[in-house]
This record gives sequence, C-alpha cells and structure tokens, in this order.
Amino acid sequence: MRAITVRDRDAGVSGLTLTDMPYPHAAENDVIVQVHAAGFTPGELDWPGTWSDRAGRDRAPSIPGHELSGVVVELGYGTTGLTVGQRVFGLTDWTRNGSLAEYTAVEARNLAPLAADIDHTVAAALPISGLTAWQGLFDHAHLTTGQTVLIHGAAGGVGSIAVQLAREVGARVIGTGRAGDRDVALGLGAQTFLDLHADDLQHVGEVDVVFDVIGGDILERSTKLVRPGGTLVTIATPPTVQPKDGRAIFFVVEPDRTRLTDLAQRLRTGRLNPIVGAVRPLSETASAFARRRTPGKTIIQVADEQGTQHS
Ligand SMILES: NC(=O)c1ccc[n+]([C@@H]2O[C@H](COP(=O)([O-])OP(=O)(O)OC[C@H]3O[C@@H](n4cnc5c(N)ncnc54)[C@H](OP(=O)(O)O)[C@@H]3O)[C@@H](O)[C@H]2O)c1
Repeated sequence: MRAITVRDRDAGVSGLTLTDMPYPHAAENDVIVQVHAAGFTPGELDWPGTWSDRAGRDRAPSIPGHELSGVVVELGYGTTGLTVGQRVFGLTDWTRNGSLAEYTAVEARNLAPLAADIDHTVAAALPISGLTAWQGLFDHAHLTTGQTVLIHGAAGGVGSIAVQLAREVGARVIGTGRAGDRDVALGLGAQTFLDLHADDLQHVGEVDVVFDVIGGDILERSTKLVRPGGTLVTIATPPTVQPKDGRAIFFVVEPDRTRLTDLAQRLRTGRLNPIVGAVRPLSETASAFARRRTPGKTIIQVADEQGTQHS
C-alpha cells in the first residue's frame, strides 16, 4: 500500500516521502480502516511518539497523521462494536503507524461510527481538534455559562472548534491570532479579536480561562490574565509559570468515542463547523505540511467516497 513515511528526525518536513509500505496487521481489538481522508498536526514530526514505540524503541520508518475518516475493512481478533463496511472516524495511536496511508490499523475504541451524510474530508478535521477543544475547555478548565475565555490561535484547527464550543455553552469569547485571522475568528463567534502582533494582551483584563495552543512567550504573558481561581489550559508545552491563585494545566488529548459521536451529531445539525482549509492528495503531503497555513485544518484525501484511491 502507499503511505507517507518519515525516517530521519533531522530532515523535518522534507523527509515526508510517498513510500510503498506493507499492509498493516490487525492486532487484538484493532480494526483495519481504509483511509478516505486523513488529518495531521503541524509539529507532529517533533513528537516523541512519531519516532519511538511505547517501549521507547526506534520505529522509523513511521507513518504520521493521527486523524482519519474511512471505512472498516477488517476486524482484529476479538474486536466488537464495529463491523466491516462501516464508515468510521477517529484517532490513531500516537506510537503506531498513523493515517497518512491507504490503510491503517487502529484500536476500535478510538473510532466512532460516521453517518452517511458527513463527508470524510470534514470528519477527518474533527477528531484531534474537536476532542482537544472539548477536553481543554470543559474537562480541564470547567468553562461554564457567563464566564470569559481567551482562546489563542482562534482560526487554527483546535482554536476554531474551541471558539464554537465555548460560544455554544454561553461563554464570552476573546479570540487571538494573526491580523488575517480576525474575520474567521469573529465569524466563528468570538466577540472580540486580538492581533497577537499588534494589540496588547494586557488590555483583555482578567479572564476565567485561557486556552493556549501556541506556548512560549504568548503562554507566559497570558498567565497574568487568569483571574484568581481561574485556569490556564495549554496544549502546546507544559507551562513554566503558574497563574497567581489559579491553575495551569497541560494535557494530551485522549480518545473518546462517546464525545466523538456527540461532536459528529453537532456537525450534522449545523451547531459545529470544522474549517477545512485545503484538501490535498497523499502525494502532496510534504507541501501541505510546509505550506503557510490557511485558516482551519488541511486534509489529505486518500480515497474518494467510492473508495477509489488517489495519490
Ligand atoms: N496536547 C495536545 O493534545 C494537542 C492536541 C492538538 C494539537 N496540539 C498542539 O497544539 C498546537 C496547535 O494545534 P492546531 O492543530 O490548532 O494548529 P494550527 O491549526 O496551526 O493552529 C494554530 C493557530 O495559532 C496561530 N499561531 C501560531 N503561532 C502564532 C503566533 N506566534 N502568533 C499568532 N498566531 C499564531 C496559527 O497561525 P499560523 O497558521 O498563521 O501560524 C494558527 O491559526 C500545535 O502545536 C499542536 O501540536 C496539542
């Protein structure tokens, strides 16, 4: 089968190569999915799991990409809950071969059924961004109606979903990003937008929750904005500074079939709209990783709705 692989950690995006790889093995509780559409996260080539398995052993050449939408073509030993021919979407394991491939093996519990009226290219934009936004806002920061949340990178993959979920719960949303992200962030429901390179963050005043996706200096400067008892959640890097009288949390998104099903239902009813920035074929993965970002999520289309594979 064809897949995108990486072998050399120092090669960066230029190391992403279209390769012939063996068809995957379905272990216990796995399914094999024919991938129709795959998502990736900018920066995942730096994640330890891209290069090592759970025991810390080198696993190159590895296949990146951890979001997928596709069709189950095989069940592993003892696998229940999904059937061959079923449309599914979800996450692949961080330390196994991922979704930038024609087929991938994934634990069934990491996937949720996908209704026939949701396009694979839209569903593939949801698993990491949707689950990360939900878990950050509600499981970790406990955001509720009437609170104020500052969401960095509000036009990006995670931020654009976080803005929509926060607005729906009745929070006041301040989005940030680059100047060109303003219209997207406001269009998604942010009430205020700050250009991180022109506006002063301190003008925001105190907020109940900061949701950071950028890290570094922006994360540090945001710490001061958290009101006493408030929470800073970051998904970029573990925070080095704590808010005074508040909490700072770094977490890695976890699979959750029930929540994925809920997010897909929101999508069907128009309550949630993942932004699909660009759709590219598997062979253009390297340039899709490298390209200056458009708002939302870049999706790699591996096969069309009929299952015909494209390179
Ligand atoms: N811990 C976890 O579980 C988890 C889960 C998902 C993602 N992540 C991490 O979270 C980060 C964001 O993921 P994502 O998928 O949302 O990425 P993304 O789609 O690239 O979104 C990030 C957004 O922030 C903007 N941005 C980044 N740096 C900026 C800066 N210095 N000034 C202004 N705007 C800036 C980006 O704009 P430009 O595109 O113009 O730079 C983009 O709009 C990545 O580092 C990813 O690895 C972690």
